[in-house]
Amino acid sequence: QTVDLDAVQAQIGEHDTFMHKEIHEQPESLRRMLSGRLDDRFATARLDGLQIEARELRKFKRVKAIGCGSAYYIGQLGASMIEDLARIPADAEAASEFRYRNPIIEPDTLYVAVSQSGETADTLFAVNEIQRKGGTVVGLVNVVGSSIARACDGGIYLHAGPEVSVASTKVLTHMGVGFALLALALGRVRDLSFTEGKRILDGLRNLPDQVAEIIAKEDEIASVAKELTHAQSLFFIGRVRGYPVAREGAQKLKEISYLHAEAYQASELKHGPLALIIPAMPTVAIIPDDELVDRNIGALHEITARKGKVVAITHSEIDLEGTEVARIDVPRNEVELDPLLLTIPLQLLAYHVATALGRDIDRPRNLAKSVTVE
Ligand code: AGP
Repeated sequence: QTVDLDAVQAQIGEHDTFMHKEIHEQPESLRRMLSGRLDDRFATARLDGLQIEARELRKFKRVKAIGCGSAYYIGQLGASMIEDLARIPADAEAASEFRYRNPIIEPDTLYVAVSQSGETADTLFAVNEIQRKGGTVVGLVNVVGSSIARACDGGIYLHAGPEVSVASTKVLTHMGVGFALLALALGRVRDLSFTEGKRILDGLRNLPDQVAEIIAKEDEIASVAKELTHAQSLFFIGRVRGYPVAREGAQKLKEISYLHAEAYQASELKHGPLALIIPAMPTVAIIPDDELVDRNIGALHEITARKGKVVAITHSEIDLEGTEVARIDVPRNEVELDPLLLTIPLQLLAYHVATALGRDIDRPRNLAKSVTVE
């Protein structure tokens, strides 16, 4: 098969790789995704594709997200949005595990299949298994008409446009926004008030510009990245809403830089991994401005006291109280949506570490864009 290099260059435009292009596309693609979906009259999300009446949405007592790799991590973030906004128990599971463990399928659980390609074999099989046992599955899928989109009972198309780079970036942000819309819709047929619904709608409206603000800090992020290229291995830490962000940050770095990175709940550090902290093992700490901020700062002290280097991904409002850390600040949105903003610098961080190490950004070794085999 031959590749028309001129055609490829025309698609990449001024960017050197598809990953870079896709990171930069986010403000525009997010505006497109949100258009027509924010319902100010009822302070909710308009999600016709779900094919579930508002009244019917009330019947679900649990939500379970399933997906693979990064789609699974964003599912974990989505589950916390649903618990925060709709107060329904929610969790996420790797579809690749779910399908093999004879899962108990409950009729009052709403299953959410999350996939960029819509062709991931493990996720598709899990969808089929849930439906065979009488469960309802909706999809958060990017590729229109894909196998998972067709198999699901309804869904929210992500409208991120084509994503070529093996390392997913913009689509993950769209998945997070998809979960926020779903959480809002589930919340508004339960106890989430009109005012609270409006708060989330306004937050969603502000997201694209705030993402653009973060991308504009690319040079600053690139210089932080340069400092990380000599690391033997890295930790990514976060708590509750910040933990899926940490998992995704570690995943992105591993995929394209080939550096070893591991995500941990910051609360678990002292139960083992603290033993590994040395100057050659830097930590990227996700520090949202939420009820856990003091505990997160406590973890930073524990690391720096052991001469560990830290890069904090946080907000300018957070005072890191004299800790010697590099920081990348992102604007504040609403507490439920801030994790989406905190993931953006991690995309650029991974990209710049991998570029400095001379890696093949768009086609990392051993990986395929869509995993259609079991
Ligand atoms: C993301 O950067 C990865 N390439 C990978 O984990 C991916 O998210 C996973 O394979 C799921 O793919 P899907 O979204 O197409 O189902």
